[in-house]
Amino acid sequence: MSADLSPIDKAKFVAAKRACDFVEDGMRVGLGTGSTAAWMVRCLGELVREDGLNIQGVPTSSRTADLAREVGIKVISLDEAKWLDLTIDGADEYDANLNLIKGGGGALLQEKIVATASDQMIVIADIGKQVDALGGFPLPVEVIPFGWQTTKALVEETLVGLDVLGQTTTLRMNGEAPYITDEGNHILDLHLHRINNARQLSLVMNQIPGVVENGLFIDICDAVVIGHGDGRVEVRDINAGTVEEDKIDFLENENLFSDLTD
Ligand code: 5RP
Repeated sequence: MSADLSPIDKAKFVAAKRACDFVEDGMRVGLGTGSTAAWMVRCLGELVREDGLNIQGVPTSSRTADLAREVGIKVISLDEAKWLDLTIDGADEYDANLNLIKGGGGALLQEKIVATASDQMIVIADIGKQVDALGGFPLPVEVIPFGWQTTKALVEETLVGLDVLGQTTTLRMNGEAPYITDEGNHILDLHLHRINNARQLSLVMNQIPGVVENGLFIDICDAVVIGHGDGRVEVRDINAGTVEEDKIDFLENENLFSDLTD
């Protein structure tokens, strides 16, 4: 089965697998959303089932909650956990300072709340997510449905005064209907191409009435685990200033791949 995975999926898998080394018995762990995070949830599930790892997971979306329960992870709410030891999540982009764009999977609001309520946030990603400047990936902004067109106009007006390359905004769709987040909101995708001052943009966006949250994660991520298609992984810790390299053997993980075909 592992041979059937694309190089990108292999890269996502090895990043997820390596990040699970940071999870210790008794931890309360934030569980991210997306295809990379789904690998991490499966790997953690295997550690729970086969090695007796005792953790409580706080999912960042209904999708992740369903998967976590399916693989045997005890799921609790953020209010039950109150504070988390660690959150592991994917990202759409990360820069050299480990600032992120997230929300490609539509879960940015819960993801940001959960990551901010954690002692540590680790991002898992394939090397393709690394960028010199954020903004190549459209920036998701969650807005409440009431008056969303007015909010969109205000967002566009605000962008005129900001240091970005593009200013087009689009309403995210799910087929013919607007995409609805777990919180019942819509998402505007901002096609900015390059964001020259992400901190300013994030602060200014969140001042607009109708905007709930944006997908810029500034100073939230502590480390990134970067996967490569050949099994190599790199762990960059921004606080310690360290870079560690490792290699994951796909053959040792056959169980996880065969779980997928069940
Ligand atoms: C979901 C997210 C995801 O972490 C991000 O979109 C990356 O997804 P993937 O791991 O599938 O590439 O922010 O809201």
